[in-house]
Amino acid sequence: MTETMHSEVAHRADERAPAPLLSVRDIRKTYGSYVGCTDVSFDLYPGEVMGIVGESGSGKSTLLNCLAGHLAPDRGEVLFDTRAEGPRDTVTMSEPERRMLSRTDWAFVHQNPRDGLRMGVSAGGNVGERLMAVGARNYGAIRESATDWLGRVEIADTRIDDRPSAFSGGMQQRLQIARNLVTGPRLVFMDEPTGGLDVSVQARLLDLMRGLVREMGLSAIIVTHDLAVVRLLAHRLMVMKSGHVVEAGLTDQVLDDPQHAYTQLLVSSVLQV
Ligand SMILES: Nc1ncnc2c1ncn2[C@@H]1O[C@H](COP(=O)(O)OP(=O)(O)OP(=O)(O)O)[C@@H](O)[C@H]1O
Ligand SMILES: [Mg+2]
Repeated sequence: MTETMHSEVAHRADERAPAPLLSVRDIRKTYGSYVGCTDVSFDLYPGEVMGIVGESGSGKSTLLNCLAGHLAPDRGEVLFDTRAEGPRDTVTMSEPERRMLSRTDWAFVHQNPRDGLRMGVSAGGNVGERLMAVGARNYGAIRESATDWLGRVEIADTRIDDRPSAFSGGMQQRLQIARNLVTGPRLVFMDEPTGGLDVSVQARLLDLMRGLVREMGLSAIIVTHDLAVVRLLAHRLMVMKSGHVVEAGLTDQVLDDPQHAYTQLLVSSVLQV
């Protein structure tokens, strides 16, 4: 399983010798006697999208939250290649440093837009607020950026002063994406970004996300139970079961020729609801 991943990484390293943007080493998180996730290690390179799939309770969100600094793992390292100082372990860095990263280089798209938006603030305010958090002060420039980003996520500029509560689920999710991407992050974490949306709305959102990820050269880690989502967005895939990564590799390889019995079950039509 990891051989595929390593040979792919080695191959890329030979070509361009890039440094990983994120190096995850031996992450473990338990809740009392329950294992949330354990023994997770991987590298993510600039511009790469990693999908994490697995059944409910397999540890996907636990892992993502450990990587994004929302949960403290019991052990392991999460080395992020910071602009200023190169690789830093985000597990042991100070809370203010982590908070600064989550405002600048990181973005987190929640499954439920209510968790990622301020529902009492206008659409433009939701986008502008992220800019102000990194020091933007010029009202005209902030509003111009907000308008530009609403356009990029296909929200009409006539809606800029509306609150997200007046938006459909798909619009709210697009607004959450605009709010997250306006500061030009390098790494985006997403937990079931298309969950809870109609199939037609999902397809449009996926198209939009794929375009933005490519255009901005973003790295992303996407948690989903929907194999169609990873097929479309993720270069590489990790399959989780009971807190462990049971298979990892290039998305097409894993889905077309699954090696682990659990992955075979997952891709078989029986489990694809
Ligand atoms: N706050 C918590 N306290 C105790 N156990 C937890 C907590 N959060 C998660 N767990 C347990 O950790 C395991 C992994 O949960 P997690 O939420 O990471 O799964 P998941 O793969 O994201 O599932 P889903 O697809 O349903 O979102 C499960 O057994 C879950 O019961
Ligand atoms: Mg989850």
